[in-house]
Formats: sequence, C-alpha cells, structure tokens
Amino acid sequence: MANCRRKLFCDWLQPHAVVKLTHADDRPLYMMQRRHFLTSAATIALAATPLAGCATSSSRAPPLPAFPRAPRTPAIPQRAISRIALTSCSNPAKDLSFFGQVEARNPDLLLMMGDNVYGSYTPEDPNLPSLSQAYAKLAEVPAFKSLVSKVPTQAVWDDHDYGINDGGGDFAYKAQAQTMFNQFWNVPANSPLRQRPGIYRAFQAGPKGQVLQVIMLDTRYFRAPLLLTDQRDVPGKERYIPHPLGSGADVLGEAQWAFLKAELEKPADVRLIVSSIQVVADGHGYERWGNFPDAQKRLYDLIAQTGANGVVFASGDRHYGSINQVRDGVAYPLTDITASAINMPFRVAEGTTSYNEPATTRIGDGYAAVNFGLIEINWAAGTLTLNLIGDGGKLAGSTTLDLKNLRRG
Ligand SMILES: [Fe+2]
Repeated sequence: MANCRRKLFCDWLQPHAVVKLTHADDRPLYMMQRRHFLTSAATIALAATPLAGCATSSSRAPPLPAFPRAPRTPAIPQRAISRIALTSCSNPAKDLSFFGQVEARNPDLLLMMGDNVYGSYTPEDPNLPSLSQAYAKLAEVPAFKSLVSKVPTQAVWDDHDYGINDGGGDFAYKAQAQTMFNQFWNVPANSPLRQRPGIYRAFQAGPKGQVLQVIMLDTRYFRAPLLLTDQRDVPGKERYIPHPLGSGADVLGEAQWAFLKAELEKPADVRLIVSSIQVVADGHGYERWGNFPDAQKRLYDLIAQTGANGVVFASGDRHYGSINQVRDGVAYPLTDITASAINMPFRVAEGTTSYNEPATTRIGDGYAAVNFGLIEINWAAGTLTLNLIGDGGKLAGSTTLDLKNLRRG
C-alpha cells in the first residue's frame, strides 16, 4: 500500500519536494488584514529532492470518508513536452463535453488552472458541502474522466474550488478546502502537500536543452484582502481597485515567495508559471495581480534578479480568453495567456465573440466564448506559440514567441 501511494504521488508530482518547516512570529502579513492568516508555518522551503524522501511522513489532516476522486492520471512524461493544454472555469453542473475537444488535440500535458469546480460555502457549515457536491459531479463527468485518465494532468484551484468567490487568505475554511483538493486530486496521505498550507508546487520534464519547468502558484491561500472599488461597474474599476504602491499587500506569502525564488534559480529552457488569476492584464477592475502592485512588481523583479529565462504565464478565471504582454520595467517581454472558459463564457452581445476591455497589455481581441489554451513548443525552431482554441477548433487568438528573446538582454 505504501508503495502504491508513493507511486501515485510520483505520478501526480514528479520532481518534488521535501518540506522544511520552521515557526515564526504572528505578525500580520498585511496591515489592513484583520486576521493573522499565516500564523504558524512560516518558512517552507521546497527542494527538488527525490520523492522517496517524503514517504515516511504522515498526514496531518484526517482523510475524508468516501470523498470523490479524479481518475488516476498518467505520469508526466520525461520526453520533450511540445503541447500543453490549459483549461479553467469548468462547471460540472453544466455540459462539459468541450473537454472532448481538449482531449482530441492529444496534448502531452493538461494544466487545469482553477475554477475546475464551482463550490461555495455557508458560514454555519465548515464541511463545505457545496464544494463536496461539485467535486462529486465532476468525478462523474465522462469527458472529464476520459481526459484526465489519458492526459497527464495537474490542477490548481481558483476561488470557486477554494470555496469562496474572490476569496483570499482570510477564508476561515481554507484548510478544509485544501484537504478536499488534495483528496480529489489523489494527493497521497504522505505527501508534503498534506502537511503544509497552500497547494503550490513545481515540476520539470524533458531532456537537457528541452527542459520544461511548470510552476503552479497558489494565489488564494495567502493573499491579502482585495480593495473594494468605490465606483462599482465603472469600466476599469468594476469590483476592485489596486492597493497603493508601498502598502505591502501580497499575493503569495513569504514561504511561497521563497519556493518561487528557488525554482527560478534552477536551470530550465521554458518556464510556465500558472497563476489562477491574470498576472499581466490591466484595464479591468476584477481580480488580477495588478490589484497588488507591490506583489506584481516583486514577481517581475524576481524574474530579473534570478536571471530566469523562458518565463511565460498562464491564467484563467476571467470567463473570456485573451493574451497580454508587458514589456516595460521587466527583464524581457512577459506574456500571459488567459484561457477561460470551458463552459462558463462571459455573456456578450448576440452574434459576437469579441470582448475588449480597455487594456494596454492585450495582444489582439479578447474572446468571449468557450475556449481552452494550447501551448505549442517547437524545440527545433526555438519558438513557443500560445493559442486560444474555440469550439470546433476555431483559432481564437495566437501569438508566437522566440525563445531566444525570453532572456535578459
Ligand atoms: Fe475565479
């Protein structure tokens, strides 16, 4: 059984991770927050050590009885990865047959970038029954089962699989949500992900010269509160406004920043950083890293300071697809493909799929119909193409990056 569990985790998270936990003081991470949401585990360093190193640990959280599970997914291949599918916003209460079109592209890897289910919470019930039901529904969807059982799949959560709309670090039931996430996605009981807060992690695949690094961030568990808009529904300020520069409002938390720095210092040829919320996009007042300008700048500066080449971002959450790029004040052009939604597209006027917020960062039109992302890496040519694929294979957006330009000049 232990070997079986170890194999499962090897399959789920190949390179990986032993945790070093130290305790720190309880000072608030952000001056406006009312709760000290990270009070005990303060320094968690993830090191790329063989998985066998974690096999003797025991789980802190008790298993949930009879909780639904995703099907077992194949191991991440160690050959060169050339095709990566990206999905988000897939509500199992609605038709999910579009997953079949993702599978038909035969990707080497599938990254489910959050809002993979839609749960909510009721203050009086810490067991998050709505989230349980959502996972149970997804577990029974044939197109999901077929896709995940055939294509190596990794998932992160966004707010709706975290359990609260637009939720952050002050969500009272976040530990329970993580237990459910771990269980649904078949994280074994002895995994380090069961023993420390947050679901961030990273892995690599591919031979020398064609190494793909995937860094999957947790943008929920440690995030400071959002700053509510004073002009609801005004374009650019619809729900939230950016915190002032210098406020210290954070997205990742110190342990995750340390993990990210360590990952960026490792050699790799392409680095795909998955953030459930948009990293680069501006021009709207919904959730995005731009609402946390100190954290956004810290992220860009970290990429520059570590000399990390080959960084591309991928995000979901928005219910429409777009590709955004920032060029100023960063080490090299940083591009973010937002692939959303599988079955929860933004409503726009009849007869159109264009949806264009007043962003300065967007490349081409936004696409407000069902879509998924497809990243194609041409290792021989040294290019990486970000595609948005709509229903029936419609190419809804595309941009090609030259890998030699994804490094500091
Ligand atoms: Fe979301």
